[in-house]
Amino acid sequence: MKVTIIGHGYVGLVTGAIFSDLGNNVTVIGRTKDKIDALNRGNIPIYEPGLEEIVKRNLKAQRLTFSLEYKESVPTSDVVIIAVGTPSQNNGEADLKSVFDVAQKIAQNLDGFTVVACKSTVPPGTNRKIEELIKKMKPEKASFAQASIPEFLREGTAIEDTLKPDRIVIGVEDEKAKKILCKLHGPLSQNTLVTNIETAEMIKYTANSFLANKISFANAISFLCEKTGADVEKVMEGIGLDKRIGKAFLKAGVGYGGSCFPKDVKALIHISKNLGYNFKLLKEVESINKQAAINFVKKISKYFKNLRNKTLTILGLSFKPDTDDMRDAPSITIINELLRLGAKIKAYDPAAIENARKIFKNSISLYKDPYQAMKGADALVIITEWKEFRELDMDKVKKLLKTPVIFDGRNIYDREKIKRLDFTYFCIGRQNAESN
Ligand code: UGA
Repeated sequence: MKVTIIGHGYVGLVTGAIFSDLGNNVTVIGRTKDKIDALNRGNIPIYEPGLEEIVKRNLKAQRLTFSLEYKESVPTSDVVIIAVGTPSQNNGEADLKSVFDVAQKIAQNLDGFTVVACKSTVPPGTNRKIEELIKKMKPEKASFAQASIPEFLREGTAIEDTLKPDRIVIGVEDEKAKKILCKLHGPLSQNTLVTNIETAEMIKYTANSFLANKISFANAISFLCEKTGADVEKVMEGIGLDKRIGKAFLKAGVGYGGSCFPKDVKALIHISKNLGYNFKLLKEVESINKQAAINFVKKISKYFKNLRNKTLTILGLSFKPDTDDMRDAPSITIINELLRLGAKIKAYDPAAIENARKIFKNSISLYKDPYQAMKGADALVIITEWKEFRELDMDKVKKLLKTPVIFDGRNIYDREKIKRLDFTYFCIGRQNAESN
């Protein structure tokens, strides 16, 4: 099948790589010449395990091309996929400018019959507006059908998530388009749900908001556990064993971040407001999320009483492990608050150092080695649960730190073991978190 994808962010690039790997002829379109040239040389602008290899393989096999020109591939494509960003505006509403700009360019280049499928996360009703716009702007002899194909991949596990998704959702009402989209996605999942367009749009927001809700629920329970003697890890295990609840996304910590949950929760609150419903539950999800980061800072400032002239080593800056992405990362809130309270920050992350430099400029010191970052610090602060932090040489850590204190924002260490090593250890969702 011939597929054009507009946008080479996480979604566009991964989808393009996987569809070409499955034998389709894929063109991914972008706006910036330098980026497109780099992609055609196999240089991937994002950190995503396994992606570069697949892109290089398919560039070589000439099944994957990157281009600036709609006219080279859109007229002959069976499916054109919109995969551009829909960032939050100041009021929380999704910014749809790129989606409509792209739709207009697609319309002008349509020829024959084409399925136009939107993968960008857009409020219910947007695909109908795209459809109207394309109808008005397309050449008379061209025909098309609109579809919504929301994306559920996670950064860091994007390849696995795309190759083996729990489900594929296809919002489509045209029979011919349905057959084409089911054929394109056929090799990926047996579990395909075909719905009308608005339902597919709604499934995406509902999924992300529900997952954010699970995380905030776990964080709220962790606040209670810290005051009751219960252990949040065990509480979540205890409820997660109930199949109706499930274990996933119940990990309490310093809150969720990234380019999706914060943006989509905000957007759904805004969509609800426009529809006359005050979605207080989701507002609380947002507020608990902020509180999780702030409570963590309070734990640190309470221990030190005064953070002026204290040096803290932060391990983990990306919004989650296995990505260099720092968009809406809890580390930003936490570090800014610690700086405001007078602390000096030394930080290490396996992938996000360059992005962190752009955000924090010279206000914090960034290191390429975790042990170097610890030298002489008053405490170690874990914000992101990268695997390598679990495997640190704790004897060495103890020698390097000025005082052996750990604030673990993701509960990555075994409390008993850390206690035996004589660290003062604070974690999430457990009473009297310090070990001595
Ligand atoms: C999320 C969804 O999981 C994907 O299904 C969706 O396709 C994607 O958004 C999107 O809309 O594009 P992603 O943002 O890559 O994916 O990352 P997640 O793995 O969902 O993690 C989001 C945040 O929640 C991270 O900051 C993570 O640390 C936090 N989290 C996750 C917790 O604090 N606790 C948990 O139990 C799970």
